[in-house]
Amino acid sequence: MAKVGIFYGSTSGITEEIAIKLREKLGEDICDIYSMEEDFDEYDQLLDYDYLLLGCSTWGAGEVQNDWREPLFEMELDKPDFTGKTIALFGAGDQVDHGTEFVSALGKMYEHFNKLGATLVGEFPNEGYDFQYSSALLNDKFVGLPIDEVNQSEKTEERISQWVDSIRPIFIGS
Ligand SMILES: Cc1cc2nc3c(=O)[nH]c(=O)nc-3n(C[C@H](O)[C@H](O)[C@H](O)COP(=O)(O)O)c2cc1C
Repeated sequence: MAKVGIFYGSTSGITEEIAIKLREKLGEDICDIYSMEEDFDEYDQLLDYDYLLLGCSTWGAGEVQNDWREPLFEMELDKPDFTGKTIALFGAGDQVDHGTEFVSALGKMYEHFNKLGATLVGEFPNEGYDFQYSSALLNDKFVGLPIDEVNQSEKTEERISQWVDSIRPIFIGS
């Protein structure tokens, strides 16, 4: 069975917690997990996997979490080929205090890896959220799993389970 690489950038630990739960649910034996801060040296590490779960919270005003900035920049210059790679995105945000760019980092990640040829999967319904704008919406669905632990922590577990159920057949078969 193909291994899944989980790579996450997380400043205050929320996206990290999601990453750990995703690994538990998909199976610790098939998922390798990497902190972008501690375990990441070069983007070739991403290319070691055909199946990737990429986690990135949103900071600034709709910007990717700090540890993703340099790797994304380097990939923009070098344009590595992600054709044949399947990627699903997840990440934390705050729809109340930052509702003008809710989880917009996911939109940036989507655009980035889409341009490099990856197949992006793992959309999530835009239901139960209340925000003004997000660049992570495509045809009124999120391009990945948005978690708002600040305002809707009671929905986190269910959202993760729902998302894992939707991507499991693609990542590890039914
Ligand atoms: C200065 C600052 C800027 C932020 N900007 C955004 C933003 O643009 N969009 C958003 O959805 N959340 C924003 N957030 C909220 C964080 O994404 C949220 O706290 C998230 O849970 C952090 O996840 P992490 O611990 O995985 O980094 C911001 C938070 C701070 C403190």
